[in-house]
Amino acid sequence: PSPPSPRELLSRMTIEEKVGQLVQEAPAQAAGRLSAEEKLRVREGRVGSFLNWQDPIGMAEAQRLAREESRLGIPLLFAFDLLHGFRTIFPIPLALAAAWNPPLVEEVARLSAREGRSAGIHWTFAPMLDVCRDPRWGRIAEGPGEDPFLASALASAWVRGFQGDDLAARDRLAACPKHFVAYGAGEGGRDYAAVDLSLGKLFEVYLPPFAAAVRAGAASVMTAFPSVNGLPVAANPFLLQTLLRRKLGFQGVVVSDWNAVGELPVHGIASDAEDAVRLALQAGVDIDMASGLFAAKLPGLVRAGKVPEALLDQAALRVLALKAGLGLWSNPAEPQVAPWVDPLPATSRHLALRAAREAIVLLRNEGEILPLSPRLRSIAVVGPLADDRKNALGPWPGIGRAEDVVTILEGVRSRAPKGTHVLSAPGCAVAGQSTAGFSQAVDLAKSADLVVAVVGEEARMSGEAASRADLGLPGRQEELVRTLVETGRPVIVILCSGRPLALPWIAEHVPAVLAAWFLGVESGNAIADILFGAADPVGRLPVTIPRSAGQIPIYYGHTNTGRPPGSGRDVSKYIDVPETPLFPFGYGLAYTRFAYRNIQVAPALLSPGGSVEASVLLSNEGSRAGEETVQLYLRDQTASLARPIAELKSFQRIFLKPGEERRVRFSLPSEALAFVGPDGELREEAGDFELRIGPSAASGLSARFHFEKGGRIRPAPPGSP
Ligand code: IFM
Repeated sequence: PSPPSPRELLSRMTIEEKVGQLVQEAPAQAAGRLSAEEKLRVREGRVGSFLNWQDPIGMAEAQRLAREESRLGIPLLFAFDLLHGFRTIFPIPLALAAAWNPPLVEEVARLSAREGRSAGIHWTFAPMLDVCRDPRWGRIAEGPGEDPFLASALASAWVRGFQGDDLAARDRLAACPKHFVAYGAGEGGRDYAAVDLSLGKLFEVYLPPFAAAVRAGAASVMTAFPSVNGLPVAANPFLLQTLLRRKLGFQGVVVSDWNAVGELPVHGIASDAEDAVRLALQAGVDIDMASGLFAAKLPGLVRAGKVPEALLDQAALRVLALKAGLGLWSNPAEPQVAPWVDPLPATSRHLALRAAREAIVLLRNEGEILPLSPRLRSIAVVGPLADDRKNALGPWPGIGRAEDVVTILEGVRSRAPKGTHVLSAPGCAVAGQSTAGFSQAVDLAKSADLVVAVVGEEARMSGEAASRADLGLPGRQEELVRTLVETGRPVIVILCSGRPLALPWIAEHVPAVLAAWFLGVESGNAIADILFGAADPVGRLPVTIPRSAGQIPIYYGHTNTGRPPGSGRDVSKYIDVPETPLFPFGYGLAYTRFAYRNIQVAPALLSPGGSVEASVLLSNEGSRAGEETVQLYLRDQTASLARPIAELKSFQRIFLKPGEERRVRFSLPSEALAFVGPDGELREEAGDFELRIGPSAASGLSARFHFEKGGRIRPAPPGSP
């Protein structure tokens, strides 16, 4: 049947039915059927959507009830968190960001959408776009890292990959960029903590990825939990209306986060549940996730004239429009059982392997110990995560299954050269205090030519409500690594984690270190491919790695001080730790050596509307082919406000054969020189700029140019690209 128009439908709805569209429930049994009361609510049109339901038969039954037994036959929406996959689990988003490869992210999102939609899901609570400069925050694992430019490029790719051009297509999902906005800036890195943020930072750092997602057509947005400058986002009209709807031009659905409406009284800005509902709806929340308060209070508030019915209509219309856009009347995509249980197809594994290989960052490779020599007689694969399936999936693993994971031990065993013996022992637990397993691990290490130590975090140590005050290895793992190093055998450390870990001892004493995050189902094969040189490491850090948690916040794009380190005796620094990070943003080694020469910038003088043409000569001076991520940073040297000491403005991945040399060219539009003032408007100001092209935020070649007379030019949504 052709879908009724949302307006026409609305005109036939009761207040309860309208409110029903704004009600999102989690089924009481996430992996089971609905209760009699839940079914009744569906039949009466008092539920519009369900989230994170894992029973395809129950979902199909509920959809049938909604379509055939509710008065207006409005289909249900099924939503699910597909942060890094649904059935095929890919590297965690922070790891995917390390690939600096938006087309790869688009492919990952596309495959996840195909899997999700074929299983009856319509809507995903992803991508997570919270820029984060505090790795203590557990949710850094779910997002794009510290930089707004990289995050924006990935944001568009995620949305395109999920949604494509047609939401009604049977292999697409509605995206839900989250958590709008600045959730990553919570005090002290504690989850849900208050955010106190200058408008300049809000516009320049936290808003751009959302602006990019909205430009890419994102169908919905989820509000962040915390208060931002005093007002929780779910009750914040400045953020939800002035910025999201008016400035960014967003027209889709706004969903609260889980029980965020119910938490408004706890924040201390609503006197009771009714007040909370009124504030949230007035601020711009359309769907109430899981608090049950819209359902309980909104009809009464509308009837009493305390909330205008027009507001309810507007929200209900948005939800109906989303359902129509998804083609739910003509094509409800009834949940199929098969996608929830079938084995993973080879094509999915292939993409998972590619993504996992590209996410790995080679942090150290003294004496070019990697790739491993094919002549090794034996390798000891040691550590609590060496043969671990469950943690490799990382936080928010969709419906991924531990059985699908190829462990690191399995990967090394299957990919080791013929005749190389692979031995293994856990040594200790991730978080335990026992060292009882050390002696077995040490004996094994002594009997082997080389040791691969797989250490890190458990998946539950990052993600939601999993902030850490200490960024070291949990439990006795560092001690285990030290003991292995003392054997005199060469040691390679593989770090599995949901955040950057501060491990200065390991960075100094272990010859080779790989940041391997949580890589998903193809973990072991990807790591083995890097170890044995079947793949080259191409990952680059999407986030700065500190030397200690005490350095936080430490990120490359900070604002200068009048007394920067190196400018005299009394300067801005700690007296007990160097001012530099352990590894800078953008950093990562390859198996070959790249050299940068002869930077050129033309023209020396640039006017508004023009572009800066910059280039550098890149050569591969090693004996292997390899891929470099060439990064371009700008520094505005004199402006009406102090500017960051560097801002990423462009990057390119360049593949070069051994001995090959290429001029890498960038063309930056003059808008890239602009910045957003505290009024939210773009400013292009005349002045001198430093442009740097290099392999990380901390190195490269620089040149200067002058930007001619500009001034404030136009109001526009902040953000690039
Ligand atoms: O999408 C998530 C969100 O990121 C955190 N709270 C729960 C939501 C639904 O699962």
